[in-house]
Amino acid sequence: MSDSLQDIANRMVSTGKGILAADESTGSIKKRLESIGVESTPESRRDYREMMFRADAMKDYISGVILFDETLRQNAADGTPLRDLITGAGSLIGIKVDTGAVPLQNFPGETITEGLDGLPKRIAEYHDLGARFAKWRGVIAISNGLPTWGAVRSNAHALARYAAICQEGGIVPIVEPEVLMDGVPGDHSIERCQEVTRWVLETLFTELKEARVDLTGIILKPNMVIDGKHARKAGVAQVAERTLAVLKATVPSTVPGIAFLSGGQTTEEATAHLSAMNAMGPLPWKLTFSYGRALQAPALKAWGGKSENVAAGQRAFNHRARMNGLAAVGTWAAELEKAA
Ligand code: 13P
Repeated sequence: MSDSLQDIANRMVSTGKGILAADESTGSIKKRLESIGVESTPESRRDYREMMFRADAMKDYISGVILFDETLRQNAADGTPLRDLITGAGSLIGIKVDTGAVPLQNFPGETITEGLDGLPKRIAEYHDLGARFAKWRGVIAISNGLPTWGAVRSNAHALARYAAICQEGGIVPIVEPEVLMDGVPGDHSIERCQEVTRWVLETLFTELKEARVDLTGIILKPNMVIDGKHARKAGVAQVAERTLAVLKATVPSTVPGIAFLSGGQTTEEATAHLSAMNAMGPLPWKLTFSYGRALQAPALKAWGGKSENVAAGQRAFNHRARMNGLAAVGTWAAELEKAA
């Protein structure tokens, strides 16, 4: 497969489909599995992810799946490589390539995401293993006096360097600058989130241009403009309007698609917000989901780590994927949730 970056990016945001973020690091997946009383082992991580990759919704609603390195190399219980389950459903393979956020020297409370050293070599190997897109997440926290310009620029610069390396290796970069909704203390207003998200995206696109990244071959993965987790909750229309206002002011129309993270929103909120934005179209780019928790949470609970619950877990996953597929074209409605 020697698809162009543009072909791959367009497939990632094809109409009515979105991305499953199943790339939780070993530490994050451990927390998720422990929340249902399951010990995190290579086998339990495999069983959980295999359950989703074999679900019917993969074919209809999931354009791509972001994997953690371990999963890319794992086989299903019957010996089939997990990556074959994904491509067999007509979905693209993605890979998380950052190595995580670490404290940024001289900037207390802020982080820089690492993973650039040796990245060209890793990208070449991932491409050989079938990956066609990648993900790198920069993290920006809102707090008293934060973020700082130093942290915003450092993270935008790293994202741009990553994106250039991916494109050179024939891989579409998902560029993810996440402004957290659950920073400390996490009680910031939606206005503050809007201001910071705009600043972060403006800085990011300046850095991408300076690094000569081809904007027609990236997917942007932003947060929505939303109030802090411990603040009063803005209504769906307000979140949708403010998010679109920021994106229209900062994201060039040459970018083929925007796929949101869910970032701690409830499953239904994440779906309602996406659907409201698409219903406000026409928009210059495709707008879809790249959800982790908001796609997986009900499936994780229904599965509960028991083989006899695989079908129930898949039903829960199919439902969330279908709801978000409808949201990606702006036709989701709350009544449809009852038909689960
Ligand atoms: P959430 O949707 O759970 O925020 O995860 C998406 C993701 O990939 C974060 O990097």
